[in-house]
Amino acid sequence: MARTDDDSWDLASSVGATATMVAVARALASREPQPLISDPYAAPLVRAVGIDYFTRLVDGDMAVDEAAASGVRLLTDAMAVRTRFFDDFFRDAGAAGIRQAVILAAGLDARAYRLPWPAGTVVYEVDQPQVVAAKSAAMAELGATPTAERRTVAVDLRDDWPQALRDAGFDASSPSAWSVEGLLMYLPPDAQDRLFDHITELSAPGSRVSTEFHGGDFGATLAARAKEITGAWQGSRSEGVDLDFSQLFYPGERNHAVDYLDEHGWRVSTRGRPELFADYGKVFPTEMALAPLRDSVAITAIRD
Ligand SMILES: C[S@@+](CC[C@H](N)C(=O)[O-])C[C@H]1O[C@@H](n2cnc3c(N)ncnc32)[C@H](O)[C@@H]1O
Repeated sequence: MARTDDDSWDLASSVGATATMVAVARALASREPQPLISDPYAAPLVRAVGIDYFTRLVDGDMAVDEAAASGVRLLTDAMAVRTRFFDDFFRDAGAAGIRQAVILAAGLDARAYRLPWPAGTVVYEVDQPQVVAAKSAAMAELGATPTAERRTVAVDLRDDWPQALRDAGFDASSPSAWSVEGLLMYLPPDAQDRLFDHITELSAPGSRVSTEFHGGDFGATLAARAKEITGAWQGSRSEGVDLDFSQLFYPGERNHAVDYLDEHGWRVSTRGRPELFADYGKVFPTEMALAPLRDSVAITAIRD
């Protein structure tokens, strides 16, 4: 179903199901020999959502064809590298003395439960109300205990989320560390700019932000790959799934996040995806069809 300005979802539908899909990849990546990441909550959270196909993938109870297997492999590697990049970002921010972390579009991100946050750290998780409620309930059911003070902010990131964040106790006069992971393409182009405007307004000197930016044909390429992975149930409503990437991304020209941050007072560093893969001991596939995915950049920036 096409996006609308005020659409909403749970973890099994529309944009929400993408959070479940990337949690599948984290579950699989956590089980690799010499894993880059360890997310013990990913598999139980996927099971709690209850999308049969994803549950069977994390349980190894699914025969997939060659195309799906290669798609799953790529997604698993990409999410392992991405997760580790953001994990390292928050570790570095903590080591630099930052004690406020904001995870925008948190989805099934379990960092508030699995990273070794310095004492006194407050982690804000922002996402749509049904997503926040379902994850909190699943974590409680699992008996999981946060490793920092976790505060949830149930709000749409196209609405007045800065006020909701302040209402939850966020202190704009202290430095903060922000992750914007797997979000930008689900926002309209102007909402992406507003998001960075708000982050900038709320960021005291010394604050940090991390994100990734995908240009060009990323949406179409990812949609094709995702279709391979999810081919077994695409179009089938019988398992209660509603996920079609080609409909979920907002089309249209958007400002490049690097340029935008640079122009708004941030000192920006970037790494291309092949470089990021190499930094974590992986090789990004060379096949031509993946060229648009290769152009994505991982971004960290510091506010002076
Ligand atoms: C691909 S998932 C990424 C989740 C998480 N960052 C991760 O990497 O595991 C996209 C997330 O963005 C959230 N999201 C997208 N648009 C949003 C909006 N307008 N308001 C709040 N959350 C949004 C979805 O609910 C979903 O949890």
